[in-house]
Amino acid sequence: MTLSFKSIASWSIVVLILMQFVPLKRINPPVVSDIQLPGFIKSSLKKACYDCHSNETRWDTIAYIAPASWLASTIVASGRNVLNFSEWNIQDIANNRKKTTEIKKVISERSAHQQLYYLWKPENHLNDTERITLQLWLHQQGQ
Ligand code: HEC
Repeated sequence: MTLSFKSIASWSIVVLILMQFVPLKRINPPVVSDIQLPGFIKSSLKKACYDCHSNETRWDTIAYIAPASWLASTIVASGRNVLNFSEWNIQDIANNRKKTTEIKKVISERSAHQQLYYLWKPENHLNDTERITLQLWLHQQGQ
């Protein structure tokens, strides 16, 4: 049996439709203890990092359509797992210090972290002013 383009296309559509029924953990759990930061620092992190590192993810329309939704929910789950600004004080102080050092590294690497996301949402990139202010602030924290 040779598969015609038409039958491949119609099977692909069926598979795509079935994919939509796979249940996903695409929820925002409650914000338990949000990190306390000066306003400008907070708004920069909210813009550039909160989609993956907090319980306040702004789920994009694409995050509701499989298979993109699978990728989005996997990335957010693993991002929250390593660093969650909405559950900051629950983690111990030593751990928070370690995280702050890692944050400094990610910020100085600019767009190297999660390139796909920043290609998709260039407006969420930290601009130079935001990046330098964040770096100065982190430096003042003794990191
Ligand atoms: C598109 C989702 C996404 C965005 C946006 C994002 N991250 Fe991440 N981040 C992740 C994921 C996933 C991991 C864990 C796996 C990895 O390291 O790639 C991670 C890991 C980290 C880590 C742990 C150390 C490391 O390098 O693995 C730090 C610190 C971090 N991110 C900071 C930030 C900061 C600061 C921002 C904002 C400027 C940010 N992230 C934006 C998804 C994201």
